[in-house]
Amino acid sequence: MAPAENDNNTAREDHGDRTMHLGRTTLSKFLIDQLRNTPARNDLAALLVDVAAAIKAISAMVARGALGGSHDALTSHNTSGEVQKRLDVTTNDAILRYCEWGGQLAGMASEEMETAYAIPAEFTRGRYLLVFDPLDGSSNLDTNVSVGTIFSVLAHSGDHTAVDEDFLKTGVTQVAAGYAIYGPATMLVLTVGHGTHAFTLDREIGNFILTHPDLKVPEDTSEFAINASNERFWEPPVQRYVDECKQGTSGIRARDFNMRWIASMVAEVHRILMRGGVFMYPRDTKMPLRAGRLRLLYEANPMAMLIEQAGGAASTGRGRLLEVPPTELHQRVPVVLGSRNEIERIERYHQEYDSGSDKPYSSPLFNDRSLYRPEARS
Ligand code: AHG
Ligand code: MN
Ligand code: MN
Repeated sequence: MAPAENDNNTAREDHGDRTMHLGRTTLSKFLIDQLRNTPARNDLAALLVDVAAAIKAISAMVARGALGGSHDALTSHNTSGEVQKRLDVTTNDAILRYCEWGGQLAGMASEEMETAYAIPAEFTRGRYLLVFDPLDGSSNLDTNVSVGTIFSVLAHSGDHTAVDEDFLKTGVTQVAAGYAIYGPATMLVLTVGHGTHAFTLDREIGNFILTHPDLKVPEDTSEFAINASNERFWEPPVQRYVDECKQGTSGIRARDFNMRWIASMVAEVHRILMRGGVFMYPRDTKMPLRAGRLRLLYEANPMAMLIEQAGGAASTGRGRLLEVPPTELHQRVPVVLGSRNEIERIERYHQEYDSGSDKPYSSPLFNDRSLYRPEARS
C-alpha cells in the first residue's frame, strides 16, 4: 500500500495560486517511483515518510524561535560532552515518537542518546535502523541561522532488538541518507542510492515537493569552508591547501577563492550541493585524543552518501569516508567533502605529506620531526 503522506487530494481542493502545485511530485510519489525495484520498498517508503513527518514537526518547533522557549541551554550534556539545548532533547524525542511505532525499525541511535534506543515492546520490530543528529548546528540557535536534522538508514541483520554493535556498519551499506535544513525554506535532501534529490516544504499544503531533482556537485570550485580559528592545530597538508587557496591569483592556484563558515554542517553541505565548494572539518591537535569534530555514523556518513550520489567526493583526507570501519556509536572522524577535483587535491596533499614527497612545500614547521607526522603521533 502506498505510504500515507498528505496526498494530492489536499492540493486538488486548493484554489488560485495554490493550484500551481497540482501535478508536482510529492515525497510519497517520488518514493514509490524510486523504490519500485527495491525489496521491502513499502517499509522503506513508510519509514522515510515518518522521518519526513518528524522533520515537519521539528521545522515548526524551530520556527517558533524564542517564542517556543526551547532554545535555552540545559544543564545536561550529550555523550560528546556538549551542553544540550532544550531543543536538542525535544527534537530527539520527536524523531523517536514519529518513527518508533510503524514497524519498520529494530532500533534507533542518535547524537543525543548514549546508547541505542530499543523499540518499545508494544510495537512491531522491523528490518531497518535509524541513526540521526536531531539538531545539527544547535549551538547557533540563538543567532537564528540555519540548522538541520541529519539521518541515515541502515539494514538490520537478525530479528533481535538492536544494540550498539548493530549500528557499527560502514557508510557504503547505508540504505538511505538525508538531511533537513531549517532555513528561510525548510528543505529535505534525500538519497536512496539513486542520486541526490531535494524537496521544499510547502507549508500551506504540508507536503514536501520535489524542487531540485538529481543534484550535481560541480567538479571544480573556488569556495571552501573551514573553521580557520583552528589553523594552528591543523595537519600540514590542510594548512598547505588553505594557504594556497588564500594566496589566490598570486599563488599556485592562480585564482581567488572565497571562504565561508556557518558552523552548521547542514548549511555548508547544502551550499555545496547547490553550487559546489569544499567543506573541511579535519583532524586537529586542539583535542589530540579525538580524530575529528564530526561524528561518523550520524553526521559524516549520511553527508558523504549524499555528496557522492551527487557526483562529489567525501574523504577523511586519507581515504573514502564511506569505507571507514566504525568501532563505536559516537566515533569521530575527519571530514573533507565537496567538489571532486578539490577533494582529490587534498587527498594528494595528505599522501605527499605522509610519504615525505611534499618537501618543496615544507617549512621548519612541517619537516620530518614535526609532531604531525603519523609515526610521531602514535
Ligand atoms: P552539533 O550542533 O550537532 O553538535 O554539530 C555542530 C557541528 C557542525 O554542524 C559544524 O560543522 C561544527 O559543529 C561547528 O564547529 P565549530 O563550533 O568548531 O565551528
Ligand atoms: Mn551535528
Ligand atoms: Mn546535534
